[in-house]
Amino acid sequence: MREKILVIDDERMILDLTAIVLRDKKFDVHLANNAQSGYEIIEQQAPAVVLLDYMMPEIDGMTALQEIRRRFPQTYVIMFTGKGNEEIAVELMKAGAADYIPKPFSNTNLVDRIEHVLRLREIELRNLELLEERERLLKEIERWNRKLEQRVEEKSAELEKAHTEILQSEKLAALGHLAAGMAHEIRNPLNSISLFVQVLSSGLQDDPEMISYSEKITQEVERIDDILVKLLATSKRSPFQLRSIKLQDVIDNVLQRFEDQIASQGVVLIKTFETEPAPILADNDELSQVFSNLVANALFEMQDGGELEVRLRHADDQAYVLVRDTGGGIPQEDLNQIFDPFFTTKQRGTGFGLSVVLRIVKTYGGRIKVESDPDVGTRFELSFPLG
Ligand SMILES: Nc1ncnc2c1ncn2[C@@H]1O[C@H](COP(=O)(O)OP(=O)(O)OP(=O)(O)O)[C@@H](O)[C@H]1O
Ligand SMILES: [Mg+2]
Repeated sequence: MREKILVIDDERMILDLTAIVLRDKKFDVHLANNAQSGYEIIEQQAPAVVLLDYMMPEIDGMTALQEIRRRFPQTYVIMFTGKGNEEIAVELMKAGAADYIPKPFSNTNLVDRIEHVLRLREIELRNLELLEERERLLKEIERWNRKLEQRVEEKSAELEKAHTEILQSEKLAALGHLAAGMAHEIRNPLNSISLFVQVLSSGLQDDPEMISYSEKITQEVERIDDILVKLLATSKRSPFQLRSIKLQDVIDNVLQRFEDQIASQGVVLIKTFETEPAPILADNDELSQVFSNLVANALFEMQDGGELEVRLRHADDQAYVLVRDTGGGIPQEDLNQIFDPFFTTKQRGTGFGLSVVLRIVKTYGGRIKVESDPDVGTRFELSFPLG
């Protein structure tokens, strides 16, 4: 390929002369007699080298040199200078000239200088290309690194979650053994206490104080029994019947049961069935327990009113149920304990609600996601595989 050379000089003779010499050397020569038309030719032709006269009437050589270097960094400039003007030559080199040729010049010197600059240009441009390529590769590596780090983080989080879930199941299993045995042992003496209290209270007709004591004992015994029942439910599955059940029906029934409480606490219920997922095969009581425990917890947090949102949708063979409240939220440090049996922050809570929820959701291959912010409230999002 013939290299393009542009000569910018206001002297017609110099233009003609250089054109003859350079064309003879098979360069593709373009000519301009002022800087302005020189710029236009550079823009269109992108010459490799410009021979630029330092002494020109309108735009002087230094200004033109700076302009060309700024606008066309791939075009190299060789300056024509007057003889004995070494200081100017130094300034020009500093301003980005690739070389300078004092006038008058010999033809061989001209061609040698141009060829030298062309070689220099080729090396520098190639170098630049390599640097850019290197930069690009470094960026790519960085991008991959970030991706990789992100993947590792994600996997670690997943692993940690899986690990916690395993711990949770182990805890529940261990508790199951213990609970089944204990519940049995405790419920027998509890029955006896109940019976004896009944006998005692039948002899207390006239003593209201004593009657109220005996009633308290009965209540507390019932509470213990209640706890034992819940404990058993937490750890062991009670007899169940799998049926084809619509989540929307289960949710509707549960919400109906809480209707009065919702109204009396001044809670606004927002129920949205975005889509209607196909029925799932499940035990109705178990699914009801899941939602009533979540709703009960949410309502407990909104004694003075708030917003209870229940939202159902499905996508990609999963049904999603969101139960969101605007209650006081769960402190960050409690978040990984709330599914533990016995974990409660309530004076009369047993701390079984959520562990039952977890056990049942797991039974159906589902998952639970909790997000909580003390300023906003709490969101439980459950997912159940469909079909
Ligand atoms: N929606 C919620 N908002 C704020 N805190 C919650 C919410 N749901 C659960 N919690 C916290 O998690 C704890 C455990 O809940 P869980 O339902 O297991 O037990 P509980 O409600 O305390 O007792 P139980 O359900 O057995 O009566 C609660 O005591 C409470 O601190
Ligand atoms: Mg609860």
